[in-house]
Amino acid sequence: MPRKISYPLILVNLKSYREALGSRALAIARKALRVSEEYGVSIAIAPQIVDLRDVASTGVPTFAQHVDPVPPGSWTGHVTLEAVKDAGAIGVILNHSERRLRVSDVGRIVDMSRRYGLLTVVCGDMVDTAVALSLLKPTMVAIEPPELIGSGKAVSRVSPHSVAETVRRVRRVAAEVKVLCGAGITSGEDVRAALKLGASGVLLASAVAKAKDPGAKLGELARAVRDFIDRGG
Ligand code: G3P
Repeated sequence: MPRKISYPLILVNLKSYREALGSRALAIARKALRVSEEYGVSIAIAPQIVDLRDVASTGVPTFAQHVDPVPPGSWTGHVTLEAVKDAGAIGVILNHSERRLRVSDVGRIVDMSRRYGLLTVVCGDMVDTAVALSLLKPTMVAIEPPELIGSGKAVSRVSPHSVAETVRRVRRVAAEVKVLCGAGITSGEDVRAALKLGASGVLLASAVAKAKDPGAKLGELARAVRDFIDRGG
């Protein structure tokens, strides 16, 4: 049975990295589960679609990286909500800057996801976009400036204002929507900075997917979350 998530959340997007494909995705998922148990911190994995069922079967909370805005039926090469739900995902990432959607399609998928009992993480590339998308009432919005993606320069440290401002404005217009931040998140310090700014978690990719030792990297990130919780913020 797929686990539930809690906040603060560490959501690891494995993207299309070769280093995180197939058996390597599974190994990362198993490490994520172990680290999550050790620190009592929620870690979820978004593998490539072809690895979704295997990764979900480990019991780690699993997200699809994208779904298409179509119902089941006569479509070719599309990924449906029904398919990712059937594969064991508990949620979907939508509108990542590497896989954008029309706003109307984001809205449709968010609504359909509710009916399927799937969580939604909607990405926005800047503050205004993230705030506007929060009005669609996804479970989470993620503020991710594209220029920082894969840069190793954490949004929470080089652009703290964008995180704090997203948190402040989303609280005002859609208080139930959690705010994650992502792009360049690499270290425990980056995670701590994100949480201090009011984020409910981080969305990251390369620091884990391309790490020599993904388990050790996940441990560093989870320890930062644990410390933050134990110190009361
Ligand atoms: O989805 C998370 C991602 O876009 C951030 O990538 O490699 O900067 O952690 P990265």
